[in-house]
Amino acid sequence: MALKFEVLGRFNRARAAQLTLPHYLCQTPLFMPVGTQGTIKGLTKNQLEEIGCQIILGNTYHLALRPTSELIDELGGLHKFMNWPRALLTDSGGFQMVSLLHLADITEKGVTFQSPVDGKPMLLTPEESIQIQNRIGADIIMALDDVVRTTITGPRIEEAMYRTLRWIDRCIAAHKRPNEQNLFGIVQGGLDPVLRDICVRGLVERNLPGYAIGGLAGGEDKDSFWRVVAQCTAALPEDKPRYVMGVGYPLDIVVCSALGADMYDCVYPTRTARFGTALVPEGVLKLKHQAMANDIRPIDPMCECMVCKNYTRAYIHCLVTKDAMGSQLLSYHNLYYMMKLSRDLHSSIVEGRFPEFVCKFLQTMFPKGD
Ligand code: GUN
Ligand code: ZN
Repeated sequence: MALKFEVLGRFNRARAAQLTLPHYLCQTPLFMPVGTQGTIKGLTKNQLEEIGCQIILGNTYHLALRPTSELIDELGGLHKFMNWPRALLTDSGGFQMVSLLHLADITEKGVTFQSPVDGKPMLLTPEESIQIQNRIGADIIMALDDVVRTTITGPRIEEAMYRTLRWIDRCIAAHKRPNEQNLFGIVQGGLDPVLRDICVRGLVERNLPGYAIGGLAGGEDKDSFWRVVAQCTAALPEDKPRYVMGVGYPLDIVVCSALGADMYDCVYPTRTARFGTALVPEGVLKLKHQAMANDIRPIDPMCECMVCKNYTRAYIHCLVTKDAMGSQLLSYHNLYYMMKLSRDLHSSIVEGRFPEFVCKFLQTMFPKGD
């Protein structure tokens, strides 16, 4: 195993830990910005370090197409290629294909998809996904899983869960760098507690360095979502990191952390920035709104980020959708907000004031109590 996970504090099921990865010593709960193409759109490496970003997520699928994993390997790995000294995680590719390309077809061999480069059919097997991720060289690599939307029902959910379990053994066998890279398994099983239970047990038996909860944040209701997270975190080992994939909104991160999850990733903070939305303790602030045109306050008067210390809402309103700087400033602030949220979760758990933190967070976001 190429990681160490030390729990520093707990409050009921919530935990704050130190996660030591080959390239960085991370504090959990932890939010990972998504840098699909080996970059967080519009932000430099220095800015990411400045806001306290500990680990970035890259996508195997995108990186394998361009610049290709062979080239990344040849140039010394993704850390060196993107000049990112801290931790990296790569997702296995299957989920991106299924969610981005509607033509993807999943069989026992792997995921077949039409190459967006030349339209030719291509096959990504569990072995190939791991081989590519070994070349890319991230601190954490993800098993290839069979993902289905949580909103579908029937035998396909069961098939995908069992296939994910069969594929984990192919991933483990294909993993050539277990001393440098941590392979995480992904719990699938839709919203069915019996299937989730079989999957968790199957993965835990394999004694992996960490576990992810997949197949969520795909349009299911919050109640079902939190129920699955609660079930999985309760059944996963106490001494290994737990990662809820594709989550999420600040509120979801707070709730999942209370349920004992440690790691999250989502495109939301940066994507919503590009649409002119800022994350603030009260919820969101739409910078495109006409009311912002002559508002000389910073995005969030309490925020200590570079953007809030230097620019007004009026200025960002003027830039947004017209100049790349608008979305860059908003991405910076939004990621700062997520990093601050991660740090606040961590310190409130360590210092024994997690309930007070959660109450204040909820009261600020829902002042009317609804
Ligand atoms: N990203 C968000 N959800 C998932 C999932 O279920 N599997 C994978 N591999 N990536 C994800
Ligand atoms: Zn700010």
